[in-house]
Amino acid sequence: MINRHQDRQVDHSELDATGKTVFDGIYTAPDPRPYCEAMHALDYAIPKHAHPMFSALFQDYREQSGKESVRVLDLGSSYGINAALLQFNMELPELYQRYTSPEAQALSTNELIQRDRNDYYRQPTHQTLDMVGFDISAQALQYAKEVGLIVDAVQANLETDEVTTEQSEQLKNINCIISSGCIGYVTTITLEKIIDVCAPHLPWMGHCVLRMFSLQQLITLLQAQGYEVEISPELVPQRRFASSKEQKQVLSRLLELGIDPTGFEDQGWLYAWLITAKPL
Ligand SMILES: C[S@@+](CC[C@H](N)C(=O)[O-])C[C@H]1O[C@@H](n2cnc3c(N)ncnc32)[C@H](O)[C@@H]1O
Repeated sequence: MINRHQDRQVDHSELDATGKTVFDGIYTAPDPRPYCEAMHALDYAIPKHAHPMFSALFQDYREQSGKESVRVLDLGSSYGINAALLQFNMELPELYQRYTSPEAQALSTNELIQRDRNDYYRQPTHQTLDMVGFDISAQALQYAKEVGLIVDAVQANLETDEVTTEQSEQLKNINCIISSGCIGYVTTITLEKIIDVCAPHLPWMGHCVLRMFSLQQLITLLQAQGYEVEISPELVPQRRFASSKEQKQVLSRLLELGIDPTGFEDQGWLYAWLITAKPL
């Protein structure tokens, strides 16, 4: 079943091995319009909820390190959504509007790139952030780089591949690592490889982790590497379920993990923890 209102490229009946809807088609489009259309339709809101946590992390890092400029790796950065919200004076609804409006729909990809380059380069930025994108999707990274949302792009799948010499150079001077909507696709396998590249310095981290993924594995890795991990007391909503089939799968996964979905996932939304990790 293809949901017309959400996106031509998302089949809402197709679930991946974890039980989540498969969004591959919108992750690899040449520009952010299909992604924003589909995510907006599902009220995907995690970048908005994560924003204060990320900003506080950068501020704490600045105060502790004495550095003004922070180099940030955004894991699963896609088209630079976090980079846009964190660097420019923009809220998520405005960003969705920017890519789903009839004016945006009328443009070719090249025209959209040109429009974004003009707009992003003209806007005042938080110059103290150097955003580095990290994603499996070459298309999404290329877009984010071309329009100036990120200063560098690491195209990798470290779940299966080893870090190349070039990637190692790109990763070794990272100060902070953030992610929204990415843990699950990316596991402790990827994180451990990045931590190894950065050693002996430990990048500070802020992640949004859906309750359907094991938090314990992540905490165990981070603590073993010398981090102090903090979990926010409040859960935050990530997005609505794309189908009742997806909700059913996720609910049964939560029950397997011993997590009670009452009042949260059983109400039709996926929920995430916000976690921060700082060197002890
Ligand atoms: C739900 S999107 C999140 C995008 C963005 N962070 C946001 O919150 O809007 C998940 C992203 O993870 C990326 N991804 C999936 N598997 C990956 C992997 N093995 N390594 C890196 N990125 C991956 C996808 O290409 C996609 O851009």
